[in-house]
Amino acid sequence: MNSESRSSQKIKIVTCQDADEASERVARKVISLIRERNEASRPTVLGLATGSTPILLYKKLIQAHREEGLSFKNVITFNLDEYLGLDKSHPKSYWHFMHSQLFNHIDIDPENIHIPDGNVPEDSVSEYCKDYEACIETAGGLDIQIVGIGRTGHIGFNEPGSTVDSITRMVTLDPLTRKDAAHSFGGEAAVPTHAITMGVSTILKSRSIYLLAWGAAKAEIVAKTLKVDPTDMLPASFLQQHEATTFFVDHAAASALN
Ligand code: F6R
Repeated sequence: MNSESRSSQKIKIVTCQDADEASERVARKVISLIRERNEASRPTVLGLATGSTPILLYKKLIQAHREEGLSFKNVITFNLDEYLGLDKSHPKSYWHFMHSQLFNHIDIDPENIHIPDGNVPEDSVSEYCKDYEACIETAGGLDIQIVGIGRTGHIGFNEPGSTVDSITRMVTLDPLTRKDAAHSFGGEAAVPTHAITMGVSTILKSRSIYLLAWGAAKAEIVAKTLKVDPTDMLPASFLQQHEATTFFVDHAAASALN
């Protein structure tokens, strides 16, 4: 059972029974676009997120590859973000996450995978980030961007203070974001302090955006995101200005919505 509604803004909200049903719905959208593009011999450009939220979605994409013959050969991906200072081989790097959760199990061309490099020297970060933006443009822009939401209201690592026109850049992680990541790093002190992230404007340029949120811990921030006037104090609220954003939430994450 799920219900669909529109908030007072343009955002469409799809409330699902649970994360599995929501992930299945998002997977079907991604799969049908890839199929359509494959048939037309055109690429599909996906913006991807890490974290606990999209894991089920990636499982379902792998399943479609294995059981339905879905090919990712024409798929180009750009990840939202990466911790600065972590090597690709680091078990907590987003490079490692994406390869173990998705890329190692599908037939994507490694050359079509783009994840910000967490090892880029500090004096070349800004040039590197400009190139990342340019690379997305060259690929034809993002067709679908998958985003999760942090309890600070971040999308990507666009923490409070990130402006609507922000682009890919180096950022400082919010203390709450580092606290939320502490369990997976074995303590807050081990969580990197900085990251590279696509900007709010990079995300808003995507033709479609799917925000996924599960569990009661996300209820308050999801409700606030939809309620406040768009503000850089809650960067996810800028999604209200996008023409084709859908929030896929489970009942727990929807529990603070009116
Ligand atoms: C990850 C990312 C973050 C996460 C967010 C939610 O690439 O950009 O914005 O989506 O922190 O994380 P989870 O899914 O672990 O709750």
